[in-house]
Amino acid sequence: MLNPYLQGNFAPVWEERTETHDLEVTGAIPPELDGRLLRNGPNPPKLPMNDEDYHWFSGAGMIHAITLKAGRATGYRNRWVRTRALAALLDTPVPKGPNEPIHGPANTHVIHHNGHTMALVESGLPHVLSPELDRARTFDFDGGLGSPMTAHPKVDPATGELVFFGYDTLGPPFLRYHVVEASGALVHSEPVTLPRAVMMHDFAVTVSRVVFMDLPVIFDLNLALQGRPLPFHWDAEGGARLGVMPRRGRDAEVVWIDMDPNYVFHVMNAFDDGHQIVMDVLRYDRAFDTAPGEAIATGLPALTRWRVDPVARRVLEAPLDDTPVEFPRIADTHAGRPYRYGYATILGQNPEEPSFPGLVQYDLERDRSVRFDPGEHRSVSEPVFVPSAEGRNEDEGWVLAVVYDATTHLSDLVILDATSFAGPPVATVHLGARIPFGFHGSWVPRGTR
Ligand SMILES: [Fe+2]
Repeated sequence: MLNPYLQGNFAPVWEERTETHDLEVTGAIPPELDGRLLRNGPNPPKLPMNDEDYHWFSGAGMIHAITLKAGRATGYRNRWVRTRALAALLDTPVPKGPNEPIHGPANTHVIHHNGHTMALVESGLPHVLSPELDRARTFDFDGGLGSPMTAHPKVDPATGELVFFGYDTLGPPFLRYHVVEASGALVHSEPVTLPRAVMMHDFAVTVSRVVFMDLPVIFDLNLALQGRPLPFHWDAEGGARLGVMPRRGRDAEVVWIDMDPNYVFHVMNAFDDGHQIVMDVLRYDRAFDTAPGEAIATGLPALTRWRVDPVARRVLEAPLDDTPVEFPRIADTHAGRPYRYGYATILGQNPEEPSFPGLVQYDLERDRSVRFDPGEHRSVSEPVFVPSAEGRNEDEGWVLAVVYDATTHLSDLVILDATSFAGPPVATVHLGARIPFGFHGSWVPRGTR
């Protein structure tokens, strides 16, 4: 069977482009959108000898940047992240900065915090990128980060704190928790006791607490010794748990709560509700239960609400929707707070042939959803919400998503008005290039510190 993650728009691009002219636009780009959409995704610089030697999660990271200014799309560029592994393959500049315990591919997310644009992957250190993306250096918060950092840190919209964890497969502690202030100072670090090394892709942060997910996708030393790109497998024997801890808490304060085995890559949002925590996740029944070189899971995820009670030590699970979706996003101004709207990418119904046929906007207050259909032969990326400066309501703003057209083999940037999400888009930027299916990205307004 062909590796699905090397076919169609999963296939890598081989060129680094630099477009500095006005790109063709259909419709009208809101002039308020002044900045860059940055996206990250795997783009192996060479095809593997054997299909099963490649996993979508392991390809070298490539950043795509689309610049918007004064109602125009003024540029597009794409660059591989200049990691040490890439330098060995493509003769790119070797990154300065601390050595990584494991050479991560820096392929999962790209965020901006305290003047640093950082490419992230959970198996390595952040790579701080130069403005033109041509250089990178590894970064460990001035020595505070002794192990990898998750690709899903959370920024507190009130304090500007960067709250995150990192998991380590090489030995205990298998989990570390960190808080970086808006100034960039790492002010809190705590090793957290886990009985085994698990894949922990994301976590939840509320105003007062964090929630770790100790779910049964286990690091597999045998697969690692065989040189498999992603040495993890499903093993429900050890059970599944959530760990609730205060935001500046210590290991001894973590309340661990057993739950039925499941797997979650992504948390949409979470918030405090009295002593309980409401946590909206994309829940799989299981994951990493397939052979190397095959799809990630035999089943598909669905939006599920967990009500986490650290006093009763109980998690109540309730499905919110049955549409398979991934890449959940929100208005980041509501991160960790009660919220009404969520956004996600719809997944095709066949887990063996991954596809992304549309977007959904959930109205969680009214229990309804609106879909954006990109059109026949077209597929979408993760939706990134950009709030309008004048907006009073949570959905006043735009959703930016990259759309791939299988007939032209090219990609567009689509800009949706989130208050009329079904479309048509207010603007479509024709990139004249293809952006392979990737993972996550950020809108960085011009002049952001
Ligand atoms: Fe992710």
